[in-house]
Amino acid sequence: MSHYSRVIGTGGYLPEKVLTNEEISLTVETSDSWIHERTGIKSRRIAAAHESASSMAEIAARQAIEVAGCDPETIDLIIVATGTPDRVYPSTGCLLQQRLGIKNAVAFDVQAACSGSIFGLSIADQYIKSGAAKTVLVVGSEICSRIVDWTDRSTCVLFGDGAGAVLLQAAEEKGILSTHIHSDGEYEDLLYCPNPQAAAKESEEEAGYIIMRGNEVFKVAVNTLGRIVDETLEANDMDKTDIDWLVPHQANIRIIAATAKKLKMSMDQVVVTLETQGNTSSASVLLAFNEAVRDGRIQRGQVVLLEAFGAGFTWGSALIRY
Ligand code: UT7
Repeated sequence: MSHYSRVIGTGGYLPEKVLTNEEISLTVETSDSWIHERTGIKSRRIAAAHESASSMAEIAARQAIEVAGCDPETIDLIIVATGTPDRVYPSTGCLLQQRLGIKNAVAFDVQAACSGSIFGLSIADQYIKSGAAKTVLVVGSEICSRIVDWTDRSTCVLFGDGAGAVLLQAAEEKGILSTHIHSDGEYEDLLYCPNPQAAAKESEEEAGYIIMRGNEVFKVAVNTLGRIVDETLEANDMDKTDIDWLVPHQANIRIIAATAKKLKMSMDQVVVTLETQGNTSSASVLLAFNEAVRDGRIQRGQVVLLEAFGAGFTWGSALIRY
């Protein structure tokens, strides 16, 4: 009987086009210094017209499958986290399944905004631990540039496009140690993206763009992520010093620094990608994880804390012995 979900491959994809702060400051009233000081972001990637959440997911997924040296036919569950699906349905999971040509898997989407990939990891882990699945592909893929109001300086400077993937397999050695996911719908108005097509016709639903009360979201995010760190350590009877790497959701360097401080970690132990990627929502944690695995920072046997916070609110963590 295998008890753990072990990471056997990771992948990532970023679109080619780079959009700098300077370029944005030509179209809305902002500046590179404001954006960099308040968020840590210098540039972000923007998908080309022919790209979509499923096309980016495919590239990231193929990379993870190749690294793992795994026969795609052994994948029995595909979970895609996205807030920007190609279509309302079929799910982006089904579209990815078709693109990968995998027949014997069940595929579905998870919608938990920026926490989506952590929710995906949690679901994958439950399936593997229960024996219901053996090899699970989790992908976070987002084309945020299509749901951003490019005339709203308070949001358009924050987001970027990309996809991250992880392949998990049932194993006897340790892998995912625990996952913790939460939601609280009370805060729906602080961060949301309307769906004008499906909204009740008598409602005055706005256009389908991200709306955020950033400052209020910021405060809740810092407090909540502090609590999830404690919850995760307690559940594993671990101390702060047992964590080798923090792989946080990439929304704001000040939020990331607050979590690192809570963990008494130096920023050298924190994987930060937002300077060149911005906030890629559900893709951000898996993109950062992939980057640090690829460049050799995260080594086999090390303990890695992944965490995220997003609209809903939703939040969660995954503690992994890589
Ligand atoms: O990923 C999902 C979760 N999302 C987050 O975690 C995001 C959390 N929030 C944040 O990261 C930050 O709140 C922001 C980066 C969005 C904003 O930073 P802030 O330090 O909280 O700024 P603020 O919203 O309090 O705005 C301060 C000022 C305002 O002007 P006044 O009212 O002081 O005159 C804004 O109008 O900055 C102004 N402002 C800008 N100025 C230049 C807002 N956006 C911009 C901008 N350029 N792009």
